Amino acid sequence: MSKKRILLQFDTDSHASVFDAIVAMDAGIDRLLQYSNVKPEQVRDLVHGAMYTRGPQDLNRTAIFIGGSNVVHGEQLYRNAIDTMFDPFRVSVMIDCNGSNSTAAAAVLSAARHVNLEGSCALVLAATGPVGQRVAKILANEKCKVYLSSRSVERSQECVDALVAQGVASSRLAAISSNDEVWSSKALEESQMVFACGAAGVKLLTAEGLAQGKGLKVAIDLNAVPPLGIEGVGLMDKGVEREGRFDYGALGVGGLKMKIHKASVAALFETNGKTIDCQEMMGIGRDIIARETPVL
Ligand SMILES: NC(=O)c1ccc[n+]([C@@H]2O[C@H](COP(=O)([O-])OP(=O)(O)OC[C@H]3O[C@@H](n4cnc5c(N)ncnc54)[C@H](OP(=O)(O)O)[C@@H]3O)[C@@H](O)[C@H]2O)c1
Repeated sequence: MSKKRILLQFDTDSHASVFDAIVAMDAGIDRLLQYSNVKPEQVRDLVHGAMYTRGPQDLNRTAIFIGGSNVVHGEQLYRNAIDTMFDPFRVSVMIDCNGSNSTAAAAVLSAARHVNLEGSCALVLAATGPVGQRVAKILANEKCKVYLSSRSVERSQECVDALVAQGVASSRLAAISSNDEVWSSKALEESQMVFACGAAGVKLLTAEGLAQGKGLKVAIDLNAVPPLGIEGVGLMDKGVEREGRFDYGALGVGGLKMKIHKASVAALFETNGKTIDCQEMMGIGRDIIARETPVL
C-alpha cells in the first residue's frame, strides 16, 4: 500500500497561511503538517525529520511548501531546505511566498497568449515588490527587454542588480524611476506589455498614461483593491480587447494563478527531489494552457 501524501507547510508568519493550507488540501494531499514562524536556522532540523522517516523509495510521498509574507526569509528557508538534502534522501520543495511566484507566472503566461515574448519589450510598474521582481525575472529569462520601474531609481537598480546576481542577463534589464517622465514615456512607447505590480489600492497608471503606450498589446493589473493599478483596466478583465490591447485585471489572472498553485503542489509528489519556484511554475502553467487549448 502506498504511503500517505504528506505536505509540510513552513511559513514565516505567526500563523501559517490558511489560503495555502486550503489550496494544498484541494490539490489532493492526504495530510498537512503546519509549522509557523519558521526561521532559516530552524529549517535543517525540520527537513531532517522529513528526510529520514521514510525510505528513499517513499520520499516522493513527502514534500515541503514554503510560504508566508516575508519573501526574503522565505527564500532563505527554500535555499536552506534544498542545501540540507542530499541523494538519495531528497523530498520535493516548492516556494510561493504570498502567492508571488504563481501570480507572476500566471501574469506572464496571460500576456504570452497575445505577445511572442522573445524579442519583445515590457514595462513592469512597481517592479520592486515580490510579484514585480518575479514578473521581471521571468520576462527577461524569456528573452524580453524589461524596464523595471519604481518610485525610486535606486530601488529599481537594486532589483536589477539582484536579478543579475541570480543569473539574469543584464542587457535585458533597465532600471527607471516612475517620477522620470521622459524615461517612463520612452518605456511605455517601446513596450508591447505593461504589468502593474503595485501594492493593494495604489493607482500606478492613469488612462492618459496608458494611452501613451501606442504599441501596447497587453495591459495587466495585479492589484485587486480599489483604486486599481491601471485606470481603465477592470478587475475581472480576462483578455478584454480595448484600443488594440488585451486587458487583464487581478481576478482575470487569478484563475490561472490558482490552477498553477494547485498543479504545482500536486507536481511535488510526482517524484522526489523536485524544486519548484517561479521558473518551474511557467512550465506547469504552459502545460495547463496546452491541455485547455482545443486541438483544431
Ligand atoms: N491575484 C493574486 O492572486 C495575487 C497574489 C499576490 C499578490 N497580488 C497582488 O499583486 C500586487 C503586487 O504584490 P506585491 O506583494 O509584490 O506588492 P507589495 O510588495 O505590497 O508592493 C509592490 C510595490 O508597490 C509599490 N508601492 C507601495 N506603496 C505605494 C504607493 N503608495 N504608491 C506607489 N507605489 C507604491 C512599491 O514600489 P516602490 O516603492 O519601489 O515604488 C512596492 O515595492 C499587489 O497588489 C497584490 O495584492 C495578487
